[in-house]
Amino acid sequence: MSDEKRLLLIISGGIAAYKSLYLIRRLRERGVRVRCILTKGGAEFVTALSVATLAQEKAYTDLFSLTDESEIGHIRLSREADLVVVAPASADILAKMANGIADDLATTALLATDKPVIIAPAMNTRMWQHPATRRNLARLETDGVLRVGPVAGALAEGEVGEGRMAEPDEILAAIERFFRGAQTLAGLTALVTSGPTHEPIDPVRFIGNRSSGKQGHAIAAACARLGAGVTLVSGPTAEPDPEGIETIHVETAQEMLSACLDALPVDVAVCAAAVSDWRAAEPSPKKLKKARASRGAGNRPLALDLVENPDILATLSARTAQRPRLVIGFAAETENVVEFATEKLAAKGCDWIVANDVSPESGTFGGETNTVHLLIKDGKAGAPLVEDWPPSAKSAVASRLAECIARAVGPASPEPASS
Ligand code: CTP
Repeated sequence: MSDEKRLLLIISGGIAAYKSLYLIRRLRERGVRVRCILTKGGAEFVTALSVATLAQEKAYTDLFSLTDESEIGHIRLSREADLVVVAPASADILAKMANGIADDLATTALLATDKPVIIAPAMNTRMWQHPATRRNLARLETDGVLRVGPVAGALAEGEVGEGRMAEPDEILAAIERFFRGAQTLAGLTALVTSGPTHEPIDPVRFIGNRSSGKQGHAIAAACARLGAGVTLVSGPTAEPDPEGIETIHVETAQEMLSACLDALPVDVAVCAAAVSDWRAAEPSPKKLKKARASRGAGNRPLALDLVENPDILATLSARTAQRPRLVIGFAAETENVVEFATEKLAAKGCDWIVANDVSPESGTFGGETNTVHLLIKDGKAGAPLVEDWPPSAKSAVASRLAECIARAVGPASPEPASS
């Protein structure tokens, strides 16, 4: 692991907290910068002084400590890390995380973070098996939280069972795998389209749609995290340009197509944009006046002549020269999701389709979560392979898709680190 890696370690209450001291030392030996937050419960088991000494940094303890807040706030603590690790993760902190409760520095940092989170649960086996903990874990998994352990063994109260925190070396291996995972798309290039397109009617009006660009931007970021060189071609969105990604801003489908063609050759193309299928045949160079447009011709309603836009996904899929090795499209459906997506896979000539349910009940458009099915074209032209993914945060869908891409086109994944 390189000197660049920054980790936020949250130590919550549990006898296993002493093992986190060893974890800090091992991480520091590997050049990882470790900042620690000790919860009130955590501080019952290890002292802020031991944590700070091993981390060679101040240990942060309480949201309401004015000193801490004046030095570095919870937002910065969570943002200035590449990864957040909660070890040990008590039943209590998992419940708070699952429910978005932020009542101390640790849980506030966890709610404020936009970084991946790994938990290393540690608790009594009955607490681990309790339906409430099961529910919380399922929810955290949906949110994209990663987990290492717990393992079976002797527990603090003299009982034996599952609930023991994974050994520090195992947690370290998971952290190393996470950081090294950043290389599974190294040396490869990806083109991602995102957001809506705006097709002008006149200088102030346009045909558009409600796409937020969240999913496409998250896919671009996830591919970049795995080491791909990414070009993101984005229609107008409120999403910020992802860090370290060449982002080309376009308005119309025609501009999007030409930016995509300019980006070739690439290894992978992911067309996540909601491209407007139609555009005004002749956008007016001047603002259309209501009086002239609708009443000028004897009270007839305004008629707009529309022409079809180029299909970017189909164009990239059909290329004979410089066709990306893997072309992935999206299908937004409100009913018969898999059936319609299967038709789209054939019609567009792409290799995979990510089909998502955008019915109003799903909350997909503009929301944070997505329920998708991944359709993979069968080489022998049979029915596609269909993977049903659970409802997940758009960032989790993006990470999973990037991992699938890496398995399909990436160099072989590195061996898990031996510690
Ligand atoms: N797409 C594209 N260029 C277009 C239209 C769509 O690249 N002009 C891509 C989208 O980025 C997405 C996929 O094609 O990957 C979606 O196909 P489309 O047929 O537009 O899907 P829907 O909008 O769901 O179409 P329909 O209304 O026919 O269901």
